[in-house]
Amino acid sequence: MQLLIVKDEAEFGQTAARLVCEFLAQKPESTLVFPTGNTPLSMYEELVAQFASEKVSFSRATLVELDDYYGIALQDPRNLFAWLQNIFLRQVDFRPVRLFRFNTEAEDAAAEAARMESILQAHGGIDLLVLGLGPNGHIGFNEPGSELLGATRVVNLTHESLISNARYWGEIDNVPSQGFTLGLNVLRKAAKTILLVNGSHKAGILKQMVEGPITDLLPATYLREMPNVLVLANAAAASLLSRKPSLLNEHD
Ligand code: PGA
Repeated sequence: MQLLIVKDEAEFGQTAARLVCEFLAQKPESTLVFPTGNTPLSMYEELVAQFASEKVSFSRATLVELDDYYGIALQDPRNLFAWLQNIFLRQVDFRPVRLFRFNTEAEDAAAEAARMESILQAHGGIDLLVLGLGPNGHIGFNEPGSELLGATRVVNLTHESLISNARYWGEIDNVPSQGFTLGLNVLRKAAKTILLVNGSHKAGILKQMVEGPITDLLPATYLREMPNVLVLANAAAASLLSRKPSLLNEHD
């Protein structure tokens, strides 16, 4: 696992976007899995800018949704897919037929989860996985207690995840209590993974993830056993790490 530390939000978004653009330049027909939340906002802003200046295209790429709520209407604007559409997908040139989302109102959740896994399988798995780090160490909605070989499924969201998502729902009681997530069984086989960690409020969980024991109680620690993983953190998020690589561009 490689650790890359950048100084601030601007450099964080630019670096994340550059890594995505470089990957797509190598393999334009990549299958992508991208995160939602506050962390990737500056990356999406930069990717949209790069697209506007014709430096990147997503027209040959496929995107499979990482996670979403379960038990709310497909048209509900608070779905995670709707968030991703507004912030990113609609502003670039993905082909709609190559966007795959969870059906948040599926009657048969197990069949829906299996459908998403078979889509990934048909595409040969994930080429580029970009993740945020949950305040409780979750990746996607693989909450503490998730097994390394866990399948794509519906999970009960932990109290910490409900608190973290309450900002989008007015109050915690309104947040759906369950969510779909791609399972670690498929995430761990991604050809390349970039974990984005931004802000001093993530410093403690990043330290545990990098330096603590590998445990199902902190699913992000599994990344340490996965191939080709890059952790991109800003200086504030990396502030508690015992051993830090030097800052990117420190000597510029
Ligand atoms: P955040 O969420 O980027 O809004 O902190 C990350 C996550 O919960 O996965």
